[in-house]
Amino acid sequence: MTPSITPLLPFDFDAYCAMRRQTVDTALSAHLPPEDESPEILHKAMRYSVLAGGKRLRPLLCLAACEACGAPTNTALLPALAVEILHTYTLIHDDLPCMDDDDLRRGRPTSHKVFGEANALLAGDALLTLTFEWLARSQPQPPRTPADLVRTLAEAAGHRGVIAGQIEDLAAEGAAPSAARVESIHRLKTAALLRASVLLGGLSAGADDDHLAALARYGEAAGLAFQIADDLLNETSTPEKLGKATGSDRERSKMTYVRVFGLEVAQRRAETLTAEACSALAAFPGPVEPLQAFARYAIARKN
Ligand code: IPE
Ligand code: IPE
Ligand code: MG
Ligand code: MG
Repeated sequence: MTPSITPLLPFDFDAYCAMRRQTVDTALSAHLPPEDESPEILHKAMRYSVLAGGKRLRPLLCLAACEACGAPTNTALLPALAVEILHTYTLIHDDLPCMDDDDLRRGRPTSHKVFGEANALLAGDALLTLTFEWLARSQPQPPRTPADLVRTLAEAAGHRGVIAGQIEDLAAEGAAPSAARVESIHRLKTAALLRASVLLGGLSAGADDDHLAALARYGEAAGLAFQIADDLLNETSTPEKLGKATGSDRERSKMTYVRVFGLEVAQRRAETLTAEACSALAAFPGPVEPLQAFARYAIARKN
């Protein structure tokens, strides 16, 4: 059982995250198939990428949204794990030579560098499918059903969500800077999944439509801000700090906020979106401090 914590003031965000990350990491390791299950290379590859660390932002958002909606966080644990393994699949595929062609992820060589392209592709496929197996097994509070969670994540991750964003992201490489285009790409490839993460938490808690709509507004704004921060870090940080390549967006003429607007305007836009995200958090039955802190963290983070 994951304890539901009521944050004491002042809210200690670092301690909260450390505790929740540990819960998520332990549960991920327990739920993923063991390395020695046949075919071993597949199960090794799945565990290699999922258990490589990572900020665990999406599962933590899912748990925090459940808590904000007044339910114990263990209600949302399986959906939280599901969204993290779906996210990991997107990273494995995003790094493939046919996509961003990156060698470093979460501070380690990328999956295709270690296991080969075919095995990396298939490990991603296996994580994507396992996501929906886990959601189908989830036990949200009434009136919500596992099918609500499956539909919410499928819509966010699919052909009108993340996959559309990835297609547009690749198509926009080298294209003339466009504000409308970069915003659309970022909403699809990144904000859609952060929005779905909080919705899964709300659905798990049996939240009503008004709370779900507020969570959607929060997730969309915080998600867009998060991707703007990713653009800023790609330009200003180092591979040692980030655990992945930097300067690569510029090299590939990616359609980023930095390319379209420059560093300062991009930073201001991220701050405005963070305020917008927090303003969606009025009138929840449970604590909203964690969600407020995550919105701020999305743009203040160093990795
Ligand atoms: C990386 O996501 C991909 C983006 C959408 C920017 P994260 O920055 O959340 O990556 P991990 O999970 O911490 O590795
Ligand atoms: C990642 O976008 C979005 C998805 C993986 C869906 P990026 O390609 O900008 O993210 P990083 O910088 O490789 O993590
Ligand atoms: Mg990419
Ligand atoms: Mg990439």
